[in-house]
Amino acid sequence: MEVKVVSGDITGLPLSAIIVNLFEGVKNPGGATAAVDKALGGLITQLIAEGEIKGKRNEITLIHSMGKIAPERVVVAGLEKEEEITLSVIRGVTAEACRFLRRVGATQVATIAHGAGVGGIDAEKSAQAVTEGAMLGLYTFRKHQTKEAEEGEIEQLLIVERDEEKLAALERGCAGGRIMAEATNLARDMANEPANYMTPTHMAEVAQRVADEWGFECRILEQADMERLGMGALLSVARGSRQPPKLILLSYKGGDPAKSPLGLVGKGITFDSGGISIKPSEGLGDMKGDMAGGAAVIAAMRAIGELRPKVNVTALVPATENLPDGAALKPGDIVQASNGKTIEVVTTDAEGRLILADALCYALKLGLSPVVDVATLTGACHIALGDLCTGAFGNNQELVDSVIKAGEEAGEYIWQMPMYEEYKEQNKSDIADIKNSAGRWGGAITGAQFLAEFVEETPWVHLDIAGPSHAEKDRTYLVKGATGVAVRTLANLILTYK
Ligand code: BES
Ligand code: MN
Ligand code: ZN
Repeated sequence: MEVKVVSGDITGLPLSAIIVNLFEGVKNPGGATAAVDKALGGLITQLIAEGEIKGKRNEITLIHSMGKIAPERVVVAGLEKEEEITLSVIRGVTAEACRFLRRVGATQVATIAHGAGVGGIDAEKSAQAVTEGAMLGLYTFRKHQTKEAEEGEIEQLLIVERDEEKLAALERGCAGGRIMAEATNLARDMANEPANYMTPTHMAEVAQRVADEWGFECRILEQADMERLGMGALLSVARGSRQPPKLILLSYKGGDPAKSPLGLVGKGITFDSGGISIKPSEGLGDMKGDMAGGAAVIAAMRAIGELRPKVNVTALVPATENLPDGAALKPGDIVQASNGKTIEVVTTDAEGRLILADALCYALKLGLSPVVDVATLTGACHIALGDLCTGAFGNNQELVDSVIKAGEEAGEYIWQMPMYEEYKEQNKSDIADIKNSAGRWGGAITGAQFLAEFVEETPWVHLDIAGPSHAEKDRTYLVKGATGVAVRTLANLILTYK
């Protein structure tokens, strides 16, 4: 789908549909909605008076224009009360309206920049949110379906504005939104891809392609490199798999070469069976998505490569499968990470922290600072915060705050979790320096405390995306399956990083 800003009068466009809006509680709408209402002989105000249109968030009302205006259909999209409108509401309702229109066969659609000029929302931000909402909400993953989709496609979405002075800002927003949405959809494609396609090797190929396309560096460390570097924790997880592990390194250099690059680290378990500590079979297929953190990091680099901010960023993605076989890591084994720390493997299913341990050591070795890691690390975080919220853990409050703020801008919920010292005791091992599982209670915290052992004094934030990495159903701009969570948060963080 192409999203484009055009100047003109939305009621005059001969398209399949136009999207106008209504704030909750408004009886006599203004702006484009008023113009459409007038052309339709007061039909919208009548439906409001009769209580059919309330303007509630995500409310969709379809009106056939029956030749009274050039567009064949009008959707009145409910925006919520005017004082409560946010960019998320705009993304969400645009997504719902676009999916609705796709269902009824619309191909050419126009919308206005919802909420522009209301509250703190300017034209640029509104256009970005509209573009993101449409592109994210219309996402499909049909690559492996040989039959054509029953629903057609919205080929073009026009953002229409009468005031010529606003066009430049709208165009900037539209361009930024496209970049953010395309990056997010890349992360979704990667995480939706089954594990027999999205192997560590393939992940590395995707990263290489992204780097080539957007002009930054990609280096892949192979098993022999990992051996040379003493990455015993990462290698121990890879031992049970026939797929060679990869440590993917992406580096974008846009800033002062003397400044240490910001580090992004993403968990890249392309399939997590649990290993010898094998998981129950129910829902096991979802564990193809255990590389969502790695995908988010690669996709954020794509956005950065396209937006070209004046910063240096290096991304690291340790990628491997976690499978049981004769050579696999066993519960009770002790492995040694590249910083020399020994780890007692209580369960082979706590593999994420093992591969991240070596990746974090390597981030320190490269002098990356600060470091943000993203991982589908614990079921415990999913239980604690549900499907819609990422857990944030860190050793530097300023960095935690800036990550949360970057998330707010993206409409991604991030909730800070505690890092009380005392929880570290749960990770103590009787026979090694540390153990990889601390039992049931506070599992998200002890997982984060484990990672903290490998970042030393480097300012660091760990984002546990086990909950929000996957959507159970379509919901506003999320589509069932991989969500691409954290891509836009990371990109925003880097764009505002000084
Ligand atoms: N990949 C899982 C965590 C996960 C669970 C992500 C559900 C997404 C949805 C991780 O490797 C894992 O198995 N964690 C264990 C840790 C435990 C054994 C200490 C868990 O959460 O049970
Ligand atoms: Mn696991
Ligand atoms: Zn895992």
